[in-house]
Amino acid sequence: MICDNIGINEKGHLTFAGRDTVELAEKYGTPAYIMDENKIREKCRIYKNAMSSHFGHGSMPLFASKSLCFKRIYEIMREEGMGIDVVSPGELYTAVKAGFPMENAYFHGNNKTDFDISFAMDNGIGYFMCDNADEIRVINEEAGKRSIKQKVILRITPGIDPHTQAKISTGKVDSKFGAAIETGQAEELVELALSLDNIDLRGYHCHIGSQIFEYQPFCDAAIIMIDFIAQMKANHGYEAQVLNLGGGMGVRYVESDPEIDYDANIKGISELIASECEKMGVNHPQILMEPGRSIVADAGMTLYTVGGRKEIKGFKNYVSIDGGMPDNPRYALYESSYTVMLANRANEKADYVCTVAGRCCESGDLIQEGVSLPKPVRGDIIAVLTTGAYNYAMASNYNAIPKPPVIMIDGDKDYVAVRRESFDDMISCQE
Ligand code: LLP
Repeated sequence: MICDNIGINEKGHLTFAGRDTVELAEKYGTPAYIMDENKIREKCRIYKNAMSSHFGHGSMPLFASKSLCFKRIYEIMREEGMGIDVVSPGELYTAVKAGFPMENAYFHGNNKTDFDISFAMDNGIGYFMCDNADEIRVINEEAGKRSIKQKVILRITPGIDPHTQAKISTGKVDSKFGAAIETGQAEELVELALSLDNIDLRGYHCHIGSQIFEYQPFCDAAIIMIDFIAQMKANHGYEAQVLNLGGGMGVRYVESDPEIDYDANIKGISELIASECEKMGVNHPQILMEPGRSIVADAGMTLYTVGGRKEIKGFKNYVSIDGGMPDNPRYALYESSYTVMLANRANEKADYVCTVAGRCCESGDLIQEGVSLPKPVRGDIIAVLTTGAYNYAMASNYNAIPKPPVIMIDGDKDYVAVRRESFDDMISCQE
């Protein structure tokens, strides 16, 4: 199995977090996202322990909540002592409503509107991850109006190609995010930040991409960033206290994906950072990281019911389910790989090759192609594994399909964290 929270019980049913997924499907209906709360907590602790033991005191993970955003998640993050990265006033609002301490919240995004900036300050945001000169001027003005010095970290593009999918690679020079070192724009942003009275510049951030398996690209980025710290110290007498290395560590979606040892990766990165700081004559900064996917992806699974099967002679076999691209657009967008299983007959021989198709009026609405399952029949339960990240968070109401609920499993308890959307919920904004 691709993750240790998945198994098969004596009834031949797929289990998740020790629970029978067929019983969960009966209890809550389908489609439904089910989430393993203890796996989320376990991942938070792996990051927290690895970061404090390898990078030292003060270093901490910030959960990238774009990967999964609802109130209960922010409560769990608060309980686990995690920081959070938010990218919109909506994420920030959700975190505030969950009682998350805003001093540990970091506000990202390449286009923070004037409203976003005021709203974040009014809610006591800890840090702005500042993307560009236009926005830092507004942050400075707004901080001035409130007679505060706003803590800011600058988003820098280190010019790294992490060998991941182009759409989720963000650290290259030609990126809509941040200011590039190579073009001199990063240094200009530092000069500007240092010249503004109400800005408290704390350091730098970089994020090279997502679903990265090797740890070498993180080391390459860290070296470039430490060299940048040294250069800014030499040129402007300013030494950064914080270095945020972003998110991006991968997870296993399919058996062929490698297993990642997050602690070992962090240890490797930490050794390199320590030696580079020494070499460049700068103080070891506080290190932050922003994992999203690797905290929640394998803590999630989606359950669907099979509607029908279509065998097109000479072409392929389609199996239709009661969800699709509205609850998981990742195959349609990125052709992402997933492991798909038949939950109610998980022990049977999986020799029926098929394409699992969603229910939308769109031929690209597929969840996965070429998967092998025991021949599905109407009413069977299909499980798509590793859907905890960027599924609920990216869900839409395309074709006016209500969003599935998010069901949390905590040992032998299960509870609704987000209820199933009703038709009335969907039309509630319509005049
Ligand atoms: N920090 C920053 C600044 C980011 O842009 C991201 C992700 C993260 C942290 C978290 O990265 P993670 O640890 O989750 O890889 N929708 C795409 C992923 C987009 C990622 C965007 N940024 C997907 O479904 O694969």
